[in-house]
Order: sequence, then C-alpha cells, then structure tokens
Amino acid sequence: METLTRLEHVVEAQQFDRPRLESIFALAREMESVVAAGGDQRLRGRLMATLFYEPSTRTRLSFESAMLRLGGTVIGTDNAREFSSVAKGETLEDTVRIIGGYSDVIVLRHFEAGASAVAARCSPVPIINAGDGAGQHPTQALLDLYTILKESGAVDGIEIAFVGDLLNGRTVRSLCYLMTRFKGVRIRFVAPDALRMAEDIKAFLRSHGVTYTEHSDLDDVVHTASVIYQTRVQKERFADIADYEAVKGVYVIDAVTVRRMRSDAVLLHPLPRVDEISPQVDGDPRAGYFRQARNGLFIRMALLAMLLGDD
Ligand code: CP
Repeated sequence: METLTRLEHVVEAQQFDRPRLESIFALAREMESVVAAGGDQRLRGRLMATLFYEPSTRTRLSFESAMLRLGGTVIGTDNAREFSSVAKGETLEDTVRIIGGYSDVIVLRHFEAGASAVAARCSPVPIINAGDGAGQHPTQALLDLYTILKESGAVDGIEIAFVGDLLNGRTVRSLCYLMTRFKGVRIRFVAPDALRMAEDIKAFLRSHGVTYTEHSDLDDVVHTASVIYQTRVQKERFADIADYEAVKGVYVIDAVTVRRMRSDAVLLHPLPRVDEISPQVDGDPRAGYFRQARNGLFIRMALLAMLLGDD
C-alpha cells in the first residue's frame, strides 16, 4: 500500500487524491466504532481553536464534538467579526499567528474566498478550511463523498445532479473537484441562468475528462440521477435582495418530485435548508441529508486524528 505524506492543512478539495480519500474514509469508518464505544483519548492534551467569521451549526459543532470525542479540548469564537480583535482592525494573518500560539489546530470559517490559503501560509499550526465565502468547503465535500459511498456503495459511475445555487454554493464547487478522482461520473448541473456553475469549475471538469450537462429544468434529470444534491440559494451572497427574491424557490423538492426519483437514488443537501426540500420528504428512505450531517462527525474526527495524531 502507498505511504502517504503527513496531512499538513485542509485548504482545498484539489489537495486530496484517491489514495488520500481512501485513507480518510477508512479512518472515518473506524471513528464510527470509536463513537459507538464512547470515544477515546488519542488527542488528549491537544487543543483545537474554532475561528468563525460566519454563522454555522453543523461544521462548528461537529468539529467540536469530534475533538472532544477524541479526548482533546476546544476554544473558539463563533462571531469573530464582532468578538475578536478583528473588530479593532487586526488582520487575519496576525489573528492566525496569535491563535496558533495558543492551540494545535485552527478551524477557520471566513467570508472571503481564499482566506484559508492566506491563513495556512502564515499559521504555525494546521489550518482547516471550514468554508471560505463562495470559494470552497472541503470538509463538507469529504463528508458528502463518504455519504455517497455509504448510501450508493460506490462513487465510480454515479450520475449526480447538483441543483440550485451553483454559482455561490461552495460545497458544490468542492465536491466537483473531488468528482474528478472517480471514474465514469456524469454530472448534471440544474440552475437558473443567474446561478449557473462558474466557468473555472467547468473548465476543471473538462480538463479531467468528467462529462457534465447543464439544465434549467429539474424534470430533465430527476428520474435518471443516482444522487440528487439539492442546495440553498445563498441569500448572504446577494448584493441586491431583489435578485435573491427572483431566484429563491425555483427548485423545491417535494413528495411529487421524490416519487419520480429512482428507487435506489439518494437525496442529499449540505444543509441548512430553507424551503427547497419539503419536510414531507424527510421520512422517505432516500432522504439522506440527516445521515449526511451525522457523517460529518466521523470525517472530522478522521481529519483531526490525521492532522494531530501520533501516527
Ligand atoms: N453544511 C454546513 O456547512 O452547515 P453549517 O453552515 O451549519 O456549518
């Protein structure tokens, strides 16, 4: 088996090749057993700092839960724009240098694309990108892939439909990068004209031989996709609220939509949802989004163990 170099930071999805993905998923599977057994102490004495400039429920609390379940401790600020010295004009670089002196790893959510790369260049400790503006959300993409693997049995050969705000959705961008690591994947982008997938991602897919098609009608793909990945229209990325109002609610997945899905399909969403998946769908066995959120715990435990563990 190939020996992997030590993981230093988690900044962007492109850094993960197939052997690395497989090692993360193997460790995540082990973490499912660790949680079932009540946790362990492999990160005892290690301290994780969470530095969040944007709101979060899943990412922040699953990272905190992951660290605590591995015996580590956590410090952090959940509204860094207001409750850190950034409010006095301190730069991100200085903030990271300081927090890196108090902790062993920094989990950073920021409102600007590229912020984690900036932080990683000056940080004395590993940086984990917990979402940077409309850039990337690599740990979400890892848990999305892990979920597809568990729900569908394989990622090679899937037909995945990305639906909604593909322009601003950082989770879709990161997951598209990872799709190039698998064979025979077919991507369907479903979005209104104003929210179509950006050219940089489409160029990356073409250069890696991944086929994609673009649609404005969900009905084109709902009956053929093996994975439907619904997304929220990212209200916080719109400068003009009228532009948001014009596109929100374009694609709502309800009981009627789900009846048209393949019997072996899975419906995913990075969450939070607003109204783009009706709660009436939640009881359908193909609704995988709450299992997906739970998988974030195991993936984040695996990443922390790889970044901070003794092996
Ligand atoms: N999926 C996700 O990033 O959720 P949070 O914004 O709640 O962290």
